[in-house]
Amino acid sequence: MKFFIDTANLKEIQEAQDLGVLDGVTTNPSLMAKEGISGKNNVLKHYKAICDIVEGDVSAEVIATDFEGMIREGEELAELDEKIVVKIPMIKDGVKALKYFSEKGIKTNCTLIFSAGQALLAAKAGASYVSPFIGRLDDISFDGIQLIEQIRTIYDNYGFDTEILAASVRNPIHIIRCAEVGSDVMTGPLSAMLALLNHPLTDSGLAKFLADHAKTNA
Ligand code: G3P
Repeated sequence: MKFFIDTANLKEIQEAQDLGVLDGVTTNPSLMAKEGISGKNNVLKHYKAICDIVEGDVSAEVIATDFEGMIREGEELAELDEKIVVKIPMIKDGVKALKYFSEKGIKTNCTLIFSAGQALLAAKAGASYVSPFIGRLDDISFDGIQLIEQIRTIYDNYGFDTEILAASVRNPIHIIRCAEVGSDVMTGPLSAMLALLNHPLTDSGLAKFLADHAKTNA
């Protein structure tokens, strides 16, 4: 399973990259706003800075909600760097934009996926990735992981190439469950990735190894 980091924070992206397990980055307008990035030129510059840190795909979201606007913004984003994946919302004009970009060989990530039907539509339109928001489904007492399983079954039934990118991942259990049910990618915060490191028996085991070594090497 590929690990993407879901942030626009350059320091965190660099830290995940340095860990050696990072496969890409996802952003969205809320994450850009959180970093105080505003104005078209600054936004484009920031995406370029992210592309310069990572080796894999970098999802950059369009703001327009009409077909022409999405195409205009998406083409401008795609020109920035070959790592850019144009992120398109799951709306009617978004489906048309997915088809357009897929025919032009530009990678897309269809965002705000909350149902298997939406994921099926995005795959049929040629999306490179679909982003089901599992944390936000869990928040309203729907099972986010069950949705990933459902999409996995549908995509496998018909051999769709679209990759399932589990988004709105909040914690290490989300990551493990995504891997169990065969998500292609998960995107989450650095804290969830680093939490995978932790086990009390690892800590106590290491402390004992070091103490025993110190005793005989004093
Ligand atoms: O990738 C989508 C993600 O940024 C949404 O996460 O935690 O705001 O639901 P969250």
